Amino acid sequence: MTEDRLFSPFLLKGFRLKNRLGVAPMTRMSSRANSIPRQDVLDFLARRAQNGAAIVYSEAIVTDYESAQGYPGQARLLTERQINAWRTVTDTLRKAGAVSIMQMFHCGRVSWPEVNPAGRVIAPSAIAPGQDNPLTKTSYVTPDPMSLFDISHVIAGFVETARGAIAAGFDGVEVHGAHGYLIGQFLSAYGNQRTDAYGGSIKNRYRFFHEVIRAVRAAVPHDRLLTVRISDWGITDMEISLFGSREEYQTVIRSLAKEPIDAISISTHEYSARAFGTERTMAGLAREVTDLPLMICGKIHDRPSAENALQDADIVLSAKSALLNPDWVEDMRTGKTMPLYPSLDANIAYTDTALP
Ligand SMILES: Cc1cc2nc3c(=O)[nH]c(=O)nc-3n(C[C@H](O)[C@H](O)[C@H](O)COP(=O)(O)O)c2cc1C
Repeated sequence: MTEDRLFSPFLLKGFRLKNRLGVAPMTRMSSRANSIPRQDVLDFLARRAQNGAAIVYSEAIVTDYESAQGYPGQARLLTERQINAWRTVTDTLRKAGAVSIMQMFHCGRVSWPEVNPAGRVIAPSAIAPGQDNPLTKTSYVTPDPMSLFDISHVIAGFVETARGAIAAGFDGVEVHGAHGYLIGQFLSAYGNQRTDAYGGSIKNRYRFFHEVIRAVRAAVPHDRLLTVRISDWGITDMEISLFGSREEYQTVIRSLAKEPIDAISISTHEYSARAFGTERTMAGLAREVTDLPLMICGKIHDRPSAENALQDADIVLSAKSALLNPDWVEDMRTGKTMPLYPSLDANIAYTDTALP
């Protein structure tokens, strides 16, 4: 691998990325009642673009006012005021030469009633996470199993949020299917014990993801991007593999490859970890069954790790390194030695601090 690969352009549909480095989506929990992030949190995204990142993801935006939210202070993109706030961000990102993508999700059972304005907790099945909620220090509630009305209502929230992102000038949107939130709960044989068309076989458990993607694509113009994010781990019940086996994982990747999407983003704790008892990484196993552009994330903190990660993927994303080091891209370029930031109880750390 030469220097050229990391700093060579990449064509993501109609968008020319100037290098292979991007800022991963990061929930920052800074919004007040208006569901608009604090200005310094929005400014952080602009600064990373100005400092060279080719692609910048928003924090995960929640898709409705009823049941999507799982952490305090999350953002929405459903009202004119929210759209206007994000438009200033996308303008700045574009001027800085970065591609902007809004990530959106529904937390499903990783939530509690009081955190949502209209307070409900819903999931594919009535299964509560097996440990206490670290934010409330109490056990999670048992979610309402989703009715068919709930399913279509939640999909409508994804669509409305995608429309908000397009109105705000984002270059694309991402459906967050990773980390054991609602889409992961549908995919997982543990979280999904339904007996209808959304449960049982992996084909059925994939159905909700498929319907979200199709509905969102219809709201996203074809000259904008649609990416999806997946992982094998969840934020609760972390010991349980969401896909269960290499076969199920590759079945889902094959299904995604048939969708009208532009890239698959794979989130791992460690990009180089061997997956499902094979000698291959998560990205490597995805590459075996799809030619779609792949993004990979997980402890990619310095030049050797980034170059290594590019053997199985096209673009590398960083969360903690990009968050904590304003000069992450430039330091990559010069090959500076950089620290490997420890694993965090993600999502929860760094929330009250205004970081650069
Ligand atoms: C503060 C923080 C917030 C995060 N929020 C999100 C999020 O909103 N959406 C998401 O897909 N991943 C989120 N993640 C996970 C990261 O995007 C990434 O997959 C993970 O941290 C591993 O990458 P890293 O080793 O570069 O940090 C978050 C991580 C951190 C540290």
